[in-house]
Amino acid sequence: MRRSARGVKRLVLASHNAGKLREIAGLLRPFQIEVVNAGALGLAEPEETGETFVENAELKARAAATASGMVALSDDSGLCVAALNGQPGIYSARWAGPDKDFGLAMRRVEDELKHSGSPDRRAHFVCALSLCWPDGHCETFQGEAHGQLVFPPRGARGFGYDPIFLADGYDITFGEMDPDAKHAISHRADAFRQMIDACFTH
Ligand code: IMP
Repeated sequence: MRRSARGVKRLVLASHNAGKLREIAGLLRPFQIEVVNAGALGLAEPEETGETFVENAELKARAAATASGMVALSDDSGLCVAALNGQPGIYSARWAGPDKDFGLAMRRVEDELKHSGSPDRRAHFVCALSLCWPDGHCETFQGEAHGQLVFPPRGARGFGYDPIFLADGYDITFGEMDPDAKHAISHRADAFRQMIDACFTH
């Protein structure tokens, strides 16, 4: 049985990533839920010790819900490259190094692909969204967006690996896309739709 979140009027977003905060706030806008950022509450970011997107999403949301006493929503996401056995995966943020330099992270993907010798450029984004209550209960959903990688990076919209990702059926990258167009097809939107169906409409 899913736990309903229909009565929730205020929730804390357990993320310190500005790009994700912007996208999640945009996705929540139609639901008239007040969104409080973890950073504004001074909540610490827990170490991501999980081995999957779902484990990391749950540990972040559970920590924020326990510390704030509010329902918390977290996002753990990343890029999985087929020819690299799914890397960088849960290490997507870490490939950008301490300076969060995604130019560096995208060059590393390109270099490792060249090194692999594989012509396969398929990749997919994954997003696990976890909604946790202060009693520790979590409802978690995983969404995906499939496509191909292109080099050099194109477009300055979006964030992270968006400039090298061409979703299936599109000829512009997520980095070149209007934010609303990305929201219609992204891994985050996929997970979000599942969460709305399961927790906010019943
Ligand atoms: P984490 O979930 O905070 O560990 O970090 C996820 C990382 O995956 C982000 O810092 C981005 O590099 C990457 N990522 C997740 N979602 C997206 C997206 O929608 N576009 C581009 N990169 C993304």
